[in-house]
Amino acid sequence: MGRRIKVGVLISGSGSNLQSIIDRIEDGSLSADIVCVISNNAGAFGLERARKHTIPALHMDHRQFAGRSAYDAALVETLQQYGVELVILAGFMRIITPVLIDAFPHAIMNIHPAILPAFPGLHAQRQALDHGARISGCTVHFVDAGTDTGPIIIQAAVPVLDDDTEESLSARIQVEEHRVYPRAIQLYAEGRLSVEGRRVIITPPVPASATSLENPAA
Ligand code: GRF
Repeated sequence: MGRRIKVGVLISGSGSNLQSIIDRIEDGSLSADIVCVISNNAGAFGLERARKHTIPALHMDHRQFAGRSAYDAALVETLQQYGVELVILAGFMRIITPVLIDAFPHAIMNIHPAILPAFPGLHAQRQALDHGARISGCTVHFVDAGTDTGPIIIQAAVPVLDDDTEESLSARIQVEEHRVYPRAIQLYAEGRLSVEGRRVIITPPVPASATSLENPAA
């Protein structure tokens, strides 16, 4: 199972991905401990989720700092105080700077609701619908200096249906998010992830779950 790693989770909102990570820790399938949850937004429901599970839940208001780098320096200090080894961005609606990235080399993960490199940035589900994509999904990746550009760890695909709304597509993607994010963290905890250039190498390798997803079906 690997050793238990200390995870810090950064959120801004609902925290359903945070909840999926908490649930996998509690059912014993994820060898991690969430040592702190930090939100830039005081009203984030994810803070309540954390408190319910007696996880330290902190509000750090970005508006009280002179700029992005100053805010990130404060984040680094707090994460280090809690002994965080892996930083998990789970709906953290802030652009992060090299101050944070350089403090946790290849130890910051993000989840994005599209199959990157398609549809980076905000409103990825809306972008997929507007583009007419027939398949979308989610991507867990290591964070680098770009927006949603870092090395890819896991992707899961879902069909885009003709009558989808942004909400219905988001809901279908979130089911996959909640499965793959804990898995990616577990692979990290087991020491099975390494980065070679743009590629993430998983050792020993894990086979793909299917050979294809086709939409419309043949
Ligand atoms: C998810 O859609 C995730 O892909 C994106 O932000 C959203 C967070 O949702 N990065 P939640 O707060 O985990 O419910």
